[in-house]
Amino acid sequence: MSSQSAVDHAPTQDELDLLHYESRIDRPVRIKVPELHRDERLRHVIFGGQFSVDMLEDLGATADKIRALSRMRNGQDFLLHLLHHKRAMLYFTQPSTRTFLSFMAACQILGMTCNEVRDPTTSSETKGETRFDSIRMFSSYFDLIIMRSKLPSLAEACAYLMNDLADSGNRSVPIVNAGSGADEHPTQALLDIYTLQRSFQFTDPKDSPISNRYNNLRQNFPNLMKGLAGKVYGFCGDIGRGRTVRSLASLLANYQDVTLIFIAPNDPTLSLHDDLRRRLVNRGVRMVEVESLEEVVEGMPVIEQIDALYMTRIQKEHNGPSDEAHFAELDLSPCKLTRELVARMKSYAPILHPFPRDQRFGEIPTEIDDDPRAMYFRQARNGMWIRAALLASIFGVDHQISRFFHEETKNV
Ligand code: CP
Repeated sequence: MSSQSAVDHAPTQDELDLLHYESRIDRPVRIKVPELHRDERLRHVIFGGQFSVDMLEDLGATADKIRALSRMRNGQDFLLHLLHHKRAMLYFTQPSTRTFLSFMAACQILGMTCNEVRDPTTSSETKGETRFDSIRMFSSYFDLIIMRSKLPSLAEACAYLMNDLADSGNRSVPIVNAGSGADEHPTQALLDIYTLQRSFQFTDPKDSPISNRYNNLRQNFPNLMKGLAGKVYGFCGDIGRGRTVRSLASLLANYQDVTLIFIAPNDPTLSLHDDLRRRLVNRGVRMVEVESLEEVVEGMPVIEQIDALYMTRIQKEHNGPSDEAHFAELDLSPCKLTRELVARMKSYAPILHPFPRDQRFGEIPTEIDDDPRAMYFRQARNGMWIRAALLASIFGVDHQISRFFHEETKNV
């Protein structure tokens, strides 16, 4: 937790509170994961690395069922009663459109009531209350805390706070990390995986380009398999500070025989950072780092060999004082998508972006939006379904959803 340890001012109480958890935060993810589960069920959602392929498949299957039930009147009524006795706090002290609203919509689909703190100047934090006291207060009134913060390890520390409270017989609720500094955004990675799961089923024309259904595709791509394994994934843009990239790369590392190609400017801030590189190497993931979408790797330009492309913007909110002037001197154009580049991509390869895209930087010009491979708006909607599935899993009603779904559809 070097960012916390290396403070250059008198530490605030929040920083001191975080230091209290430092030794637990500094452990490898695989050691920490069991503490994020209770009774073999997901309890807190903090890292991408806590999800196995089986868990991802289960969540995707539940999301599909919620999505289908939401199209039926009795399905909607069933879902609305599932968690009507639960309340969620959305504690978002960093800006958000998609994550905040899709979590709220997911809660509403399952009948949960929500409240929010988005602007800490309206809460007692302005009177000097620490974030940890605020979180404990939220846990007194709500059954779940979904939180976004610029502090990288705050959500993780709050999960340990909740575990300690539970161990001492106090009230404790699940914590969901909805984005922590430049560190992790695990629920974004869940919706990214869900979008890839649906794209690589090659069944629904809305999820994969209509002219490219599986059997047709196999004529041009005889080795193409369904599913996420064995595919080449390109990540392009601000790889160093993209928390969604970090979480999604951790999840993709679960799948057999994947190749991750990181396309970023040759700059220590923007290119792949050592910790993620080390983590992926330790997991045996095949990785390539290049500076341009057109760079040739093993005889083929990257843009022509990827099975899915994950674009990101330059994360200006993490800029230090000299970054803007420094980045202005770099040629960032090799990390921007154009219609001509899209024309060279595989005909089935989805283009994802966690959004927001940056209209000034222009990493994905709007002229690409009509291309059937442009999946980013659908991807954002998928966030609502997978987050509803996640809530259902945390509160243990996912099996009820399965049973109801099978009853309703057995004669269809
Ligand atoms: N993708 C994402 O996290 O978007 P928001 O910042 O709008 O929530």
